[in-house]
Amino acid sequence: MNDITMPTLYDRVRQVIPPPDWMLFEEDIEAILALKREQNAVILAHNYQTPEIFHGVADITGDSLALAREAVEVDADVIVLAGVHFMAETAKLLNPDKTVLIPDMGAGCSLAESITTQDIALLREAHPDVPVITYMNTSAAVKAASDICCTSGNAVKVVESLGVPKVLMIPDEFLARNVAKETDVEIIAWHGHCEVHELFTPEDVRAMREAYPGVTVLAHPECPPDVVAEADFSGSTAVMSNFVAHRKPARVCLLTECSMSDNVAVRHPDVDFVRPCNLCPHMKKICLRNIRDALEHNRHEVTVDPAIAHDARRSVERMLDIK
Ligand code: 13P
Ligand code: SF4
Repeated sequence: MNDITMPTLYDRVRQVIPPPDWMLFEEDIEAILALKREQNAVILAHNYQTPEIFHGVADITGDSLALAREAVEVDADVIVLAGVHFMAETAKLLNPDKTVLIPDMGAGCSLAESITTQDIALLREAHPDVPVITYMNTSAAVKAASDICCTSGNAVKVVESLGVPKVLMIPDEFLARNVAKETDVEIIAWHGHCEVHELFTPEDVRAMREAYPGVTVLAHPECPPDVVAEADFSGSTAVMSNFVAHRKPARVCLLTECSMSDNVAVRHPDVDFVRPCNLCPHMKKICLRNIRDALEHNRHEVTVDPAIAHDARRSVERMLDIK
């Protein structure tokens, strides 16, 4: 990535970035590539980052599970997390000796905001001896108060790995209800929602099928269960991307955040993408300019309170141990 020329880079993304926009991005991209070399830094970018970040400056891309797995392998002094705060916190948990930067501290997540450690204490009181499985989209403190983490890419596996008849799965109600359809384990859910995926409706899916005959519909498991039921397939952002790569549908619609289709389309110019998407305002706080600022000014450093880091890391590592 660091030795690539600007014209080669633009060739990759010309399908989704018009030339005038690219001209505005070029200077920041060149500066970021140089700063990464100078500072021995790597950029981890989530699948919802815009294409100029995802294809222009990122070293490692993926869903939240892949970003956590790759964070363990990173050989660099500085990690810049182009994504939301819980992802940067996870990278820090797994790399306590490295500097982890997030370009905008305000890049949060409605799911992470929906539950506190006090809520978990009350849930444990109401359901003694029921293990708590916590979605990665939570604070380090909530992870520390949990038994194990999961992502949308491994939730069923994590639930079944515990060998118990009943689990608490927090905080995403829809993910929990979608997972419950795929396992015999009883799942007690919380009432958190993703503000992006909760907006999709079954009517949207039906209207789209009528307007675009033959379209294959993929839904993220943070969508309401009645939306997932109308879709052809459901999976994490990485699972959706792999579906397009391997099954090569002629026409596809990804019911998820908007940049996802752009990023996947770059790799599959032969697939027709229908794009009724919703923007994540948190993911969209990250841009080339603040990534460049992060590297130039060594900001904003993400730290985790040592009092919770050990237990939070244990919940994440327990999940990563499940292959
Ligand atoms: P993935 O793990 O599927 O990438 O999801 C993360 C996320 O925040 C989706 O809204
Ligand atoms: Fe959180 Fe939803 Fe944005 Fe993902 S898309 S970061 S779950 S608010």
